[in-house]
Amino acid sequence: MRKMIVAGNWKMNTDFSEAKELAQNLKNSLSNYTGDKGIIIAPPFTNLSEVGNIIKCTPIQLSSQNCASEESGAYTGEISVNMIKSVGAEAVIIGHSERREYFKESNELLLKKLKLTLNAGMQPIFCFGEVLEERESEQHEATVDKQLSETVFKLTPEEFSKVILAYEPVWAIGTGKVATPEQAQEMHAFIRKRISENFDETVAENTSILYGGSCKPNNAKELFSQKDVDGGLIGGASLKAEDFVAIINA
Ligand code: PGA
Repeated sequence: MRKMIVAGNWKMNTDFSEAKELAQNLKNSLSNYTGDKGIIIAPPFTNLSEVGNIIKCTPIQLSSQNCASEESGAYTGEISVNMIKSVGAEAVIIGHSERREYFKESNELLLKKLKLTLNAGMQPIFCFGEVLEERESEQHEATVDKQLSETVFKLTPEEFSKVILAYEPVWAIGTGKVATPEQAQEMHAFIRKRISENFDETVAENTSILYGGSCKPNNAKELFSQKDVDGGLIGGASLKAEDFVAIINA
């Protein structure tokens, strides 16, 4: 059975003291959590270790927002998966549209990051999705298919079974313009069908596919109640403990 998951992507927000405060608030609010959703937060690299200490012994798991595409060595400024793992993180967000767009991350590079993350025994949260132009010209399924075919579909079934997918239509990220529940369901069903064709039905049924893009407390319930939507990757609304917890409880 696949899991419902709510993951918070803090992006380039929170300095050290803000991150500690947000993590502490989440810990307090979720101390009696009895729900069955997986909860993940992804603070900036500089706050991973401290946030990890705060959320120890809570249901909240720690993720990074990115990792290097090399294992170790002379790559000034880069952070390897083993470094991330060593401070207690269990997951790595890979392929966020902001990294694809601003840092020109290609599918080829993302596949390297996927492999490194899996080899380290960590869980990738793999993001993909179309831009507005592609949606308007009805190329959204072809775009997503290519993004998946050149990355996660090249993994073995065993490797793929460790991956969390996050469909994030780029036009909905940070814009307040959320996909309708029908648009989300339609795309998630398409993704599951493609997983089934590429691997098999069991693998497809067991894959958690999150929706991301302007998911808020007031729209989460409807999105999450769609048959193939298994939770969300939350940006803006994950920066307020109250909103993030409301989305978890949606
Ligand atoms: P948003 O971001 O919720 O602020 O739209 C989602 C994301 O980028 O993961």
